[in-house]
Amino acid sequence: MKTTGSRIGNYSGEDAHNYEASAHPRQPVGIEDMLRFLTDGGQKPLKDQVVADLPCGSGLYVPFLAAKKLILADFSEGMLGEAKQVVPNPQDRELVSFQADLTETLPIESKSVDSILCNQFIHHVTTPEHGPERWKGLGKVFDSFHRILKPGGRLTISFCTREQVAHSYWTHSIFADDAIAEELTYYPDREELSGLLVQAGFQASDIGFDVIRQDLQADIWTIDPMDPSVQSGDSGFRFALKTSERRAEMQSKWQALQADPDALHSRKAAARDFVADKGSSTLCLATKA
Ligand SMILES: C[S@@+](CC[C@H](N)C(=O)[O-])C[C@H]1O[C@@H](n2cnc3c(N)ncnc32)[C@H](O)[C@@H]1O
Repeated sequence: MKTTGSRIGNYSGEDAHNYEASAHPRQPVGIEDMLRFLTDGGQKPLKDQVVADLPCGSGLYVPFLAAKKLILADFSEGMLGEAKQVVPNPQDRELVSFQADLTETLPIESKSVDSILCNQFIHHVTTPEHGPERWKGLGKVFDSFHRILKPGGRLTISFCTREQVAHSYWTHSIFADDAIAEELTYYPDREELSGLLVQAGFQASDIGFDVIRQDLQADIWTIDPMDPSVQSGDSGFRFALKTSERRAEMQSKWQALQADPDALHSRKAAARDFVADKGSSTLCLATKA
């Protein structure tokens, strides 16, 4: 299997387990809004749909996907293995699951899928280059999404904008400045994302956005950023831990904050207030004409 598709990283073996068992447990944020969009406006009920979760990761959203047919794919076998464990009432649905690089040709028939969920993935396939090169992998993923959706089929993409990444995680405030700057290059804004969807064949008038005002760091007050299981399950730490200089800067910023509980509290409160105002993440909702 080629590994060029993902630039921030894949999750294999131990990381796959840590992603789910992380010291800051993940929440399926936005799931109610996603399900509403996937089933409203004359769409079939979920139980009669073919639904694809791409990539499914460790299956955070899978327990909610009680579809007629469920398609799960991920680059990481470890993640896929975890996701298959949480399929709801597996005897009641057809399950198709396979390891795949979503930037390559997807082995899913054209016009065969009613709904696609794509959560917290797109920063894994963008690259730090400026210009069109940055979006090449993501463009291929969206081409496949457009191809496999039935006419009228729906796509939900949850992602963080650059602004949301910069302000909604208090743990980022202890990262070295150049680590944050590097990380932000992987995240798009709304215009960049909808431009790519239009290039893939979606009509601009069929693309909308919503804000998710639920914290991705659910246990914001108790997270220990030096806990290895927090670090290995979070792609942001890949940048913060990339060099010994960055590690040292993070360590010293963390020590300074620990010595000043008021400052630590106000960093956490600032992140929480940002999330309440501008959201932790964004939901892109698109319908294929
Ligand atoms: C942050 S996780 C999100 C997983 C899941 N959608 C969720 O919301 O919990 C990102 C996932 O993308 C997968 N991934 C990264 N690059 C990939 C690629 N090129 N093709 C397929 N999966 C990829 C990783 O293995 C990981 O499971």
